[in-house]
Amino acid sequence: MCGIMGYVGGDGASGIILNGLAKQEYRGYDSAGIALCLNGEIKSAKVVGRVSALARLVDDMPPECMEARSGIGHTRWATHGGVTVTNAHPHESADKMVTLVHNGIIENSKEIKADLTSKGIDFITETDTEAACQLLAHLYRGDALAAMTCLAKSLVGAFALVIMFKDRPGEIWCARKGSPLVVAYSGGASYCASDPTALLEFTHDLFFLDEGEMAELRPDGCRFFCFDGTRREKESIHLSWDSVMSDKGHYEHFMRKEIEEQPDVLRLTIDTHTILTSVSRERDLNLPVGMMKRVNRVQFVACGTSHYATLVARNIMESLDEEIDVSADVASEYRYRGVRGGDDTLAIFVSQSGETADTLAAARLARSKGTHCIAITNVRGSTIDRETEHTLLSMAGPEIGVAATKTFTGQISLLALLVMQLLKDRGTLSASDEARVIGGMRILPSHVHSILERESEIKSLAEKYSDSKGFFFIGRRECVPLAMEAALKLKEIAYLPSEAYAAGEMKHGPIAMLDEHLTVFAFVPDNDLREKTLSNVEECRARSAPIILLANEGDSSARDHANDVLYIPRTERELFPFTGVVALQLFAYHVARTLRRDIDMPRNLAKSVTVE
Ligand code: G6P
Repeated sequence: MCGIMGYVGGDGASGIILNGLAKQEYRGYDSAGIALCLNGEIKSAKVVGRVSALARLVDDMPPECMEARSGIGHTRWATHGGVTVTNAHPHESADKMVTLVHNGIIENSKEIKADLTSKGIDFITETDTEAACQLLAHLYRGDALAAMTCLAKSLVGAFALVIMFKDRPGEIWCARKGSPLVVAYSGGASYCASDPTALLEFTHDLFFLDEGEMAELRPDGCRFFCFDGTRREKESIHLSWDSVMSDKGHYEHFMRKEIEEQPDVLRLTIDTHTILTSVSRERDLNLPVGMMKRVNRVQFVACGTSHYATLVARNIMESLDEEIDVSADVASEYRYRGVRGGDDTLAIFVSQSGETADTLAAARLARSKGTHCIAITNVRGSTIDRETEHTLLSMAGPEIGVAATKTFTGQISLLALLVMQLLKDRGTLSASDEARVIGGMRILPSHVHSILERESEIKSLAEKYSDSKGFFFIGRRECVPLAMEAALKLKEIAYLPSEAYAAGEMKHGPIAMLDEHLTVFAFVPDNDLREKTLSNVEECRARSAPIILLANEGDSSARDHANDVLYIPRTERELFPFTGVVALQLFAYHVARTLRRDIDMPRNLAKSVTVE
């Protein structure tokens, strides 16, 4: 939610900030703005729309603005107040002393506004952010640290704030509570951003602000403080990601590029983490000895696509150990459902970004109950990585497309390996299952490769069905989470009504919706549930719904049940989602492309959801 970029150094700030904003545009893209500090003046430009529109506006600013050596910028995902230029960040205090950008929600903004209004300060926006801006200006008496300390104490809610004071050129101030902010210093300049990918072209050594931390950025370095104003020494974290990884290259969309990277993600994950199953205590994880013998309950917790990844993992765990009590909850429900916890419980939190507010809060709740916790995230240094004692990093590299693709594959492959290690520690993983599933995983990269080679076939299918009124994705057992992820992809990037159902449930209601305009996309891997699923497919066919089947190669009789069949390679039963998802990502991508949707930045969405 919202992308922030700040720079103070010896070069022109505007280009660096616009470039940093463009790299974080997937965080929010309703409106964008920049403020540049120049000769004791702060000049700003704001626009409804994308960073490209802001860049055009910056081109029209007075030429001397290009000389500014410090500035801050923002891309917005609106929470409080409509999408207007006035509500776009940066915001400026009435006395023009403070200019700031914000990511998060100030929950006591109404109270602050009422108080300051009664003191004669005029508010001009509908945002919660303006309250922080006006309050900081009100508190500021020439001592930035003192004013920041008071501000941090007065604000309730979540915030990453990046601030310039008009009378302090060459300084940028930051504060973080609840929303991510990363700081870097390199070669006579300091930077801050919401997302590390925006800083990798300058340095790989990054300072991730902790909860309740502030920073002062200057061209000659950064200083860190607690909210009470005391100095804090901070270690940088080295991020090995390559900045080229977040380039689109020759691809039309990041999403398409990221779909294609999946064989590498699988290979890297399996090569790096097969050690998970070959030793009982993995180095990164360092779980307490004997923990899995004590644990009799495993809880997976996540949001969105990460939740569907945990459903895949839950099914694998159940398939390999019929005794274990395993659940998978969405984080926003886990928090309020009164779930059990303690020393006999292991909770596994999965978050691509490591910053999703609900997942973080759920993990904090579990820790407070004494539950053993493991986090899986794609971002080293993210909040969940720093807050959770045992973290495993997925190996997907930066993902820019808002719709998750390769991070899902990274998560499910890592989760499958983790599940096997945990069951091995528990003494319930049979050697034959271990060999079977690991063996099956090793050939996944080549299977995914062969699906990518069928893109033109998938594209034709997508074009043929893109005028469908909507879609039902149906399947059984391991195919249910796959159906959910497929439906989500189509909603996210094609804006088409799409539902996922356990195939056996169709007749209990949804079948009433079917006619020749609603397409049913059914998954029928060649396994023990094939015939039952095909019976459900026939029930849909009898109601005139066009049918597409996702079936295993060699299943020629699948054609008797469908208008179209998409064939994918055979896998071990538990692994069907690993290959199926790639075909379905490509299908969603080409439907969205046919409908001319904004695939990398779908309307109303943000990649990282840092509000509850
Ligand atoms: C948002 C994104 C989804 C993502 C979900 C969870 O809703 O749009 O693509 O799956 O957040 O994100 P996380 O970073 O926790 O995996």
